[in-house]
Amino acid sequence: MKTIALVAAAGSGTRLGSGCPKPYRLIGQRPMISYTLRAMDRCPELDRLVVIVSPGDEEFCERQVRDLGCLHKPYQIVAGGAQRQQSVYQGLLAARGIAQIVVIHDAARPFVSWQLVQQAIREAEKYGACTAAIPLRDTLKRVNQDGLIEETVPRHGLFLAQTPQAFRFDLLWAAHQQALQEGFCGTDDSVLVERLGVAVRIIPGSIRNIKITYPEDLELAERWLASGSIEI
Ligand code: CTP
Ligand code: MG
Repeated sequence: MKTIALVAAAGSGTRLGSGCPKPYRLIGQRPMISYTLRAMDRCPELDRLVVIVSPGDEEFCERQVRDLGCLHKPYQIVAGGAQRQQSVYQGLLAARGIAQIVVIHDAARPFVSWQLVQQAIREAEKYGACTAAIPLRDTLKRVNQDGLIEETVPRHGLFLAQTPQAFRFDLLWAAHQQALQEGFCGTDDSVLVERLGVAVRIIPGSIRNIKITYPEDLELAERWLASGSIEI
């Protein structure tokens, strides 16, 4: 089945701060996005990549990808939108008519393994929809506006969703169309499919597959890299 990866790299990186856009921030010697793209490039099931970048950054990204030599598969760079969901939609437009399976991955999760991407794709081929997720480790509290705990939510059965998330193209397309019509904006793609009433399967994500969100995440990523605990 023709399989395309949509790499979401069109965010503004507000929480990370500093001048350089997040996907191009260095971890060790190389830009964050080069790790992400290299993992995707190594996944044998992937035929092609669509890299979704901030409008105006297309040429810069193109140059980075060429200079870094991290992609051997065919790829295309497209401009994203203001929200992540709109960015992914732009990626879907580029994959439409070609892909039977799409796998969505955040550029901000550079330490994904190609094996996890592969597993997500295989699951989507079988069942239609899949996301990587890890069980919640901390105790979860619901807190009111006064900063008082209202409830301790039982942790059993609660997971943190990651990417990769993989879907049959037609399913994710329908899910995005419905969200558009209803004006629903979600923070991942799985939720859009869930809203269709379709079951989404979980595969075990990885603790190393962190999303670089705050400066502390970048520090942690640097340390993992320096200590050799990340296989790259
Ligand atoms: N993303 C995107 N288009 C957007 C917003 C986010 O493609 N309009 C991507 C980001 O580039 C990132 C992923 O979605 O790879 C997850 O988003 P997040 O970690 O929130 O990154 P940013 O939106 O860039 O960061 P912030 O929310 O701090 O501004
Ligand atoms: Mg964001």
